[in-house]
Order: sequence, then C-alpha cells, then structure tokens
Amino acid sequence: MIIYKYVVLAVVFAFSLVTVNAQSQDKKIKEILSKMSLEEKAKFVVGTGMKANNASVNGAVGATMGKVNGAAGTTFPIDRLEIPPIITADGPAGLRIDPLRKEDSKTYYCTAFPVGTLLASSWDVNLVEKVGQAMGSEVKAYGVDILLAPGMNIQRNPLGGRNFEYYSEDPVVSGFMGAAMVNGLQSNGIGTSVKHFAVNNQETNRTSVNSVISERALREIYLKGFEIALQNSNPWTVMSSYNKINGDYAPESLDLLTGILRDEWNFKGFVMTDWFGGKDGVAQMHAGNDLIMPGTANKTKAIIKAVEDKTLDIKDLDRNVERILTILLKTPSYNKISNNNNPDLKGNAKVSREAATEGMVLLRNNDALPLQKEAKIALFGNNSYDIIPGGTGSGEVNKAYVINLDEGLGNEGFKLDKIFSNKWRAYLKEIKALLPVRTSLLETPKPLDQMQLTEEELDQLAKTNDVGILTIGRNGGEGHDRKIDYDFNLTAEEKLALNKITKAFHKQNKKVVVVLNIDGVVEVASWRDNVDAILLAWQPGLEGGNAIANVLSGKVNPSGKLAITFPVNYIDVPSAKTFPGFSEEKSKTAYYNEGIYVGYRYYDSFNVTPAYEFGYGMSYTSFNYNNIKLSDKQFKNKLKVSVDVTNKGDKAGKEVVQLYISAPTNNLKKPLKELKGFIKTKLLQPGEKETLSFTITAADLASYYTDKSSWIADGGNYTIHIATSSKDIKKSVSFKVANDIVVKKLSHKLPLKEELKELE
Ligand code: BGC
Repeated sequence: MIIYKYVVLAVVFAFSLVTVNAQSQDKKIKEILSKMSLEEKAKFVVGTGMKANNASVNGAVGATMGKVNGAAGTTFPIDRLEIPPIITADGPAGLRIDPLRKEDSKTYYCTAFPVGTLLASSWDVNLVEKVGQAMGSEVKAYGVDILLAPGMNIQRNPLGGRNFEYYSEDPVVSGFMGAAMVNGLQSNGIGTSVKHFAVNNQETNRTSVNSVISERALREIYLKGFEIALQNSNPWTVMSSYNKINGDYAPESLDLLTGILRDEWNFKGFVMTDWFGGKDGVAQMHAGNDLIMPGTANKTKAIIKAVEDKTLDIKDLDRNVERILTILLKTPSYNKISNNNNPDLKGNAKVSREAATEGMVLLRNNDALPLQKEAKIALFGNNSYDIIPGGTGSGEVNKAYVINLDEGLGNEGFKLDKIFSNKWRAYLKEIKALLPVRTSLLETPKPLDQMQLTEEELDQLAKTNDVGILTIGRNGGEGHDRKIDYDFNLTAEEKLALNKITKAFHKQNKKVVVVLNIDGVVEVASWRDNVDAILLAWQPGLEGGNAIANVLSGKVNPSGKLAITFPVNYIDVPSAKTFPGFSEEKSKTAYYNEGIYVGYRYYDSFNVTPAYEFGYGMSYTSFNYNNIKLSDKQFKNKLKVSVDVTNKGDKAGKEVVQLYISAPTNNLKKPLKELKGFIKTKLLQPGEKETLSFTITAADLASYYTDKSSWIADGGNYTIHIATSSKDIKKSVSFKVANDIVVKKLSHKLPLKEELKELE
C-alpha cells in the first residue's frame, strides 16, 4: 500500500512536470511566433536544400547544410530569433551524407544497414528497433536533426523501383516495422520522417501520376500501415508523397493531411513535402503540409501574397509555423547539443550484420545447406565478388567498405577455389574499369556481362570443388521502375550459366547453391528445381558477405520469411495490367483496379498459386505447433489466443508465427484471410518450447464499408489461423461475433472522382 502511494505520488509529480513543460513550451512557441514578421513566417515554411539553394534566394546564404555536407535540406534559419536550421538527411538504409569534406581530412562514413525489405523479412520488431537505435546514433553523432526515414509504402507490384526501401505488400507488417524503426531512431533524441504519405507505389511519372483508387483500398491497404505506425510511435514528421490521389496532389490534399492524418489519427508533428513535390504552395499551406522542401523563392512570395489578399488565412500559416517550431524545440540543433562526428561504426556494423542474417530467407534447400565445414567452393557470378549492399538514389549510403561474398566465405573458414576466384576478380576489375563514371545518384549501374566458361572448365571446377555457389544480382532505385525482361525475369545468359553449372556439378553428385542478391522479386519458378538451394539475401548492407556466409555455414539458422509474394509469372501479379499506367493517353494515371486484393490477399482469394507465398521461409530445423487456446468462443471486446511452439529438430532456431483471420463475407466481399499479427520466437534450442500469445480487438476484425464510411466488424463466424506462411496453416480455431460492431464511424475522404472497375 505504501509503495502504491509513492507510485501514485511519483506519477502525479511526473504528470505535472510534463504539463508545466508543455505549458512553457507553448508559451515559448507563441512568443517566437508573435515576433515573426509575415515574411519570416513565409520563409520559415519554405525549406532549403539540394543545391537548389533557395537559401540564398531566401536570404540565408551559407546556412544550408553548412554543418553537415551532403544532408538533404534544412529549414530556414532566423538568426535574430535564435532559430537555427533543422537539418534533415536521408534514410532509410542508413544516414546519407558526404563521406569526405574539403574543409578537413576526416571521414564521415555511415553504416549501410540492410534494406527495408530485408528488415521486414526478419519479422522481428525488436531487431528493427535495434537497427533504428544504431542508425539513429549516427544521425545524432553527425549532427543531423531528422532522418528522412522510414519508407513505408506498400509494395503493390514487384516492379516498383523503390520496393527495396519499403517493407512489405502487407500493411500490418509495414506498420509494425515502421513503428519499430521510428522508436529505435528517435530513442537517440533525433527525429524521423515517415514517408511517402501516401500511395507512392511507382517511380514511373512519380511526380505527376494520379493514383485512382477506392476509399476502401486506401483505408485497408495503402493508409493502414501508416496508421499502425502512428498508433505505435510518434514520428516527429511525415513526408507527403509526389503523386496525386484521386486527382489531388498528396501535399495539397486537405483530406489526407488534415482530415485523416490529424483529425482521425491525431498526428502531432509536422508534414513536409517530398523534395520539390506538389505544385501550389498556397494549397499546400492550407492542406496542412507545413513545410515545403526544398521550396523556391516564388513559393515564399506566393504565400505572402496569398495572406495579403486573404486567399490564405494567416491562421493556416501560423498553425504550420507553430507545428514546425514545436519540433524545432526538440532538435539537437536548437538545444545546442554538440555532436562528436564519431559514431560507433564498428558496433553498428555488427548490428547491420546481425540484422542481415535475420532477414535472409531460405527459399529452397535440397540437402545442400548448411554447407559442410571447410567445404571447397567454386564461387560464380559478378555479384559474389561485388555484392550489392543496397539500392540507389536517396536511399544510398556512403559506407567505408563492403564485405563481398568471397571475403565472407573466407572469414567463415571455407576454402575458395583460389585460382578460379582470382580469375573472376581479375575479369571483373577489367570490365569495371571500362565503365563510364556514374554522374548522378539516380543512375543505377547496369549489370555487367558475366565471365564466360567452357564446359571443360566447368567440369574441372566441379571435380575439384565440393560445391558451386552462384550469386545473381539486381539493383534498382529511385526514379525508375524495374522491367519485366532482364530484371524481373532472369536473362537468357543467366539461365544458360545456371544450367551449365548445375549440369557439371550434378554430374559429380555435387550441389549448387544460388544466392539472390536482389532489390526486388524475381522469377524463380522456371529454374528453381535445377538448383539445390536458394538463399534470398536481398540487399544486405555493408556486412553482406559475412552475413550470407553465416547463414550458409549454419552459424545462423535462417529464420527470415517473405514479406512479399514471389509469383510464378509476372502476369500473375494482380496489378500486372495496370502498373505503372502503360496506355499512351492515360500514361499518367494508375488505376488501382485490384482494389484491396494486393499480394497474398489476391493469390489466396483467387486461387492463383505463387512460386513462394507470403510468409514463406525455410529453416535448418522445424517446429511443432500445439495447445492452441482461445480465451472465449464468443467475442466481446477482446480475445486472447495462445499457442505453444516447440523446436522439434536438432538445431537451435527461431520461428515466425503468423496470425491470420478469415471473416464472414455475407455483407461485403473480403480476402480469404488477412494477417492480423505476428511474433518471432526467441532462439529455441532443440526440444525447447515457447508459448506465444496474441490479443485480438474489434479493430482487427473490421473491414471498411465505403457506403457507411465506417470500419465494421460483421456479426458472424470468424476463424483464426495460426500459420507459418499464408498457405501453411498449423492450427485454426473459430469464434463468433454476436452482432455487427461499428468500430469507427468516419466521413468520406479522398473519394473517387471517376469510375473505377474493381476486381471482385
Ligand atoms: C526522395 C525522398 C528523399 C528526398 C530527399 C526525394 O527524391 O523521394 O525519399 O527523402 O528526395 O533526398
């Protein structure tokens, strides 16, 4: 009781401190605002950056990025009011700043962490938070206030050029990964920018494309991940996207930025545009896009004029200024927190490597892996010697080094066929020397021709080595989408090489392992049966070679699972015909005809067999699922489900347990089942058991009824599936909802302005 009393007192005390702080902060913000002239306000909401240098136009020469070379942009500083610039830099696979500066001889390298898709494939929110902590420590150490990350758009189509920066085809995975990343990053006292809000699912015509999409698909798929992230974290900022949604530019949409983001979701930070995004600065101000990044002097002028002639309410401008000021007061720059430019790169490389091993997905294993200790390896493929650690564009990271697979395998104690590897390295060096110098960040280096080998050479390699490993690589990035041929599909050359290598090795009864070092989904169905194992390594960051070797050797038992479906053919993809808006006259419109049927929601509901389904991934051990318990057969406010997972193999391993729900469809068509939760077990020793519990709320059962603009959980029978992939269900239990539950009554937002025929 006494203890209880002290706890209560402490809570009351802490609460009053918070209130006092909030009050004094409010006072401070009002005070600054009252001292700002209209011109200063209009300049403050228009940022600087990217050498466009509106800093000079805006009269703040030299302030821009002065402190951190290679940052992406800053807010406008006002010296007389002691307002420093807020410094922002990219994200999301690590901090992107210039590694070298003219002013000194120090280096400013950052850690390249695995890309978002790999992190999501770990299905481990604790791990992602840890990555965020490590990444954020570099943001802080290098004096940046806000990292422009995480990227959280839905991977609508495997050709999406920036998919690698994003997490998943599923909003629940995306949402929880995003929240974990924000929490980890911001634990350093720096901010984040959750991006690109919203429906930025393609790079083709990215600054002008109009995404025509139903309210239901918006709510259930494309906004849901952002909503979950904001419910589970408090990002300082959100970045609006370039595209239009049902006719309105995202940064100019009052529905999106005020109606949904603020009024429905209670977001308290500020919104910035994507770089040079949107057109009408005044409309952006009114919509609640608080900061224009980086803007132009014309935008500042237009805002001043609009306030003067009363087409923009000064209250809108003041509100936006206040929101930016509220965040500014938290920043290291404002609080004059010094930065040591000396992050723990060694420690963070370890985190990067650990994360990489946890997110790799073992797609196939025909007794080939783990490799035998000290196996002698013939290592094929340019990317074995030149790994792709991450994609290109703003999500690139300037790292001090990259561990290639040859080095990683050596570090792991394997013997490479030295003569052969040396030959491949020499070949690569020669052809790389002929490449033109890369001139832009948005340029993705083209894949290089592979070294050609005769059948005799291959036979010889197969005789003198224990196993063949071939890496197939794909790179991509901002500014362009991927292609079907020579990108999604393997090239004829790649297939031929695969055939020749497997033929030679199989003749000797030896195995061939393929490592996929890719930014996005590739076709696997036509060739996978020829090879003995496939490890999907995604783009694994600067420690990639070590991480792959850790998994191949079995030092780390693979536990990654796909967060995006691998279809058999590209044409099986639900948006194959409408992505990215091919037809000539409509080239700038993307019709989201597949509606809510994105990824496994489509393949499952329409019985289209994928090559590897959502949630799939192998391990060197296997697990039993037992003792499923449901707290009640009748749903009231909440339900609890628990299940025992036991490692039944002889190697320690982790399992990703996925919870899907099938809902009644009397009133509304719904996907066959939808993911509602997931938990990764701890490392289970052989025979060890862990009991996992999930809580289900009414919100988890609800679908969005457009006609009623409400989230409703229908009365009827529901089934919970405890599964290890969207197709591999281990246990199911049913329960009943007595009557319809209206979980949230909303109003129409971003309604369709033209007809859209949706898949049913
Ligand atoms: C990208 C953003 C990035 C910004 C700043 C834009 O081109 O779309 O993701 O944060 O540039 O570099």
